[in-house]
Amino acid sequence: MRNSLLLASIFLLSITIVAQENETYRIPLIGETAPEFTSQSTQGPIHFPDDYFGHWKILFSHPADFTPVCSTEIMELAEIQDDFSKLDTKLVVMSTDGLNSHIEWVRSLQGIKLYDRESVTIKFPLVSDPDMEISKKYGMLHPAYSTTRDVRGVFIIDPEDKICATFFYPATTGRNMEEIKRVLIALQTSAKRNVLTPANWQPGDDLLIESPESIEAAEKLAAKKNPDLYSLEWYLWFKKSK
Ligand code: BEZ
Repeated sequence: MRNSLLLASIFLLSITIVAQENETYRIPLIGETAPEFTSQSTQGPIHFPDDYFGHWKILFSHPADFTPVCSTEIMELAEIQDDFSKLDTKLVVMSTDGLNSHIEWVRSLQGIKLYDRESVTIKFPLVSDPDMEISKKYGMLHPAYSTTRDVRGVFIIDPEDKICATFFYPATTGRNMEEIKRVLIALQTSAKRNVLTPANWQPGDDLLIESPESIEAAEKLAAKKNPDLYSLEWYLWFKKSK
């Protein structure tokens, strides 16, 4: 009896460990609340997402400080950081490097003239995650790549702390900051105007509305002759952007 109780306890314990392991590497999904964390950053302690409630947020992970692709990414992000600020969006960069490494790297990056441009001032915080707590909560460690370095992750999070978009790129491939900005503007436009954005949409282009539920509903919509709307098929309705 004692032996079987012992075996059952070991079995339950191993299930829990497996469950915890699965949980730690789980990527939070679109529509879920952004996981919380508290950590040191180049701008002091950060409580995420609480410190930024009511604002849009972008959490941006990179594999390692003092590496070439990551360096260009941080400088390019700094190049358009004021655009994100105008879009009421807070940028938070993170990696598993320690705080001293982040501080030294930011100092170094601020002295570089990338592509002969003026050097940048990095106004956003770099969060250190040496214990990999944040990386695990956000599924930024992809074990087949590395169990200690994050992949290139992007989480776009809305003012109510809901995850709206996620991207992951491998270490070899630098991200396109304009594409991140484009997706952010698309998300904000959909949230504000109850519209959808078509493939390859750029700010200022015409938008889409949800399909009428039937051909009959589409005919009713057409009969209204709304000058802002036009259709190419009963299920494909555009809304003029202006
Ligand atoms: C880079 O940013 O260049 C890099 C980082 C980690 C592994 C490989 C490249």
